[in-house]
Amino acid sequence: HGLLTFDPGFKSTASCRSAITYIDGDKGILRYRGYPIEELAAHCSFTQVTHLLLHGELPDASDLDAFNRIIHDHNLLHEQVLSFYRGFRRDAHPMAVMVGVVGALSAFYQDLQDYSKPEQQMKAAIRLFAKMPTIAASCYTYSIGRPARYPDNRLDYASNLLQMMFGKPNEPYEVDPVIARALDLILTLHADHEQNASTSTVRMAASSGANPFACIASGIATLWGPAHGGANEAVLNMLEQIGSIENIPNAIKRAKDRNDPFRLMGFGHRVYKNHDPRSAIIRDMTKSVLKHLNKENDPLLAIALELERVALSDEYFIEKKLYPNVDFYSGILLSAMGFPRRMFTALFAVARTSGWVSHWLELKGDTAHGIDRPRQLYVGPTLRHVEKPHS
Ligand code: CMC
Repeated sequence: HGLLTFDPGFKSTASCRSAITYIDGDKGILRYRGYPIEELAAHCSFTQVTHLLLHGELPDASDLDAFNRIIHDHNLLHEQVLSFYRGFRRDAHPMAVMVGVVGALSAFYQDLQDYSKPEQQMKAAIRLFAKMPTIAASCYTYSIGRPARYPDNRLDYASNLLQMMFGKPNEPYEVDPVIARALDLILTLHADHEQNASTSTVRMAASSGANPFACIASGIATLWGPAHGGANEAVLNMLEQIGSIENIPNAIKRAKDRNDPFRLMGFGHRVYKNHDPRSAIIRDMTKSVLKHLNKENDPLLAIALELERVALSDEYFIEKKLYPNVDFYSGILLSAMGFPRRMFTALFAVARTSGWVSHWLELKGDTAHGIDRPRQLYVGPTLRHVEKPHS
């Protein structure tokens, strides 16, 4: 096969050069633009982090002001976009609706046809970032039959998402600052993760010159799977299925059985083989939010903590270097905060949009990068011929 390298699942292929996110999976290091995730999580808001991912630098006060103003200019959905929702069954999965609505935006923004201009590229990137909470909240309000609320520009990004999700149209909504901070942290931790499956999909779509809204829709579609962004929802389903601490040994036994499709959801990672630095941050936040909400005795948290303890001392998990990933606790946290399970991955999509649009911009700026076009090892039949038609 000549010079072809066979690398199924791209386990050892660098598909591009990128200056956005650095991961050292053996050491459990994650940095955005050089800054450790721990420092960003402790000291920065998701909006600041998105400015960092998009523009390469953390904003000073006036940059942040300007950035917020642009987000505020773009966070409304055109009333006609709201009519897209009505084409969906109201019990559709929010990710299905989100793929459709975001993809359909490519038909909507006719003014942005020329994506060769950097200012048009940035406008599309910010439009997507600004609209995602409104789109996600509308997926939810549509599913429960409540009118969508407008974004409130007095609020920060996370608080705004909360009020659009949970606020009733006829009542003021009081944002709980502890919950808003927790959501902001979840968004930061999920903002980017270099060439994961959905980001690679966005880049591949972009490499053909596709419309940015269509590119991000392809990322949303890829994120949906349970091996990727769907894991947070799958973790909660799994914990519920395990049901009680007594059933943990059996769950561990099943996860180790190669003939059983059951896996410990929220465990393992393609890149982290030591620990996922995001999981410790989210575990601490989960404990403090549950305390704040007087839900410390949450039975699923008790099962999760014990499951983690048992798995981390089990030979199989040690040998295969399987650790809890970012999504092991995020589902419990989001659930305690009042988010319905079906919205978990949609929230991940809101967060990851920040990374997706940054990678999209980076790719657009890399004019030397041609279309992504992997090769294959052909394993089908060798040459054969169509027999003369039977009459
Ligand atoms: N439970 C039990 N065994 C596992 C698990 C698990 N969660 N994860 C991996 N293994 C085993 C796997 O069976 C394989 O065993 P063997 O060597 O005997 O074939 C070995 O560990 C290596 O696993 P792999 O599937 O080849 O590793 P991968 O890099 O292809 O997959 C993964 C990584 C995250 C898809 C996988 O660990 C998994 O399915 N985990 C559960 C789903 C999950 O939590 N996904 C969220 C990832 S973090 C958020 C995100 O980035 O989206």
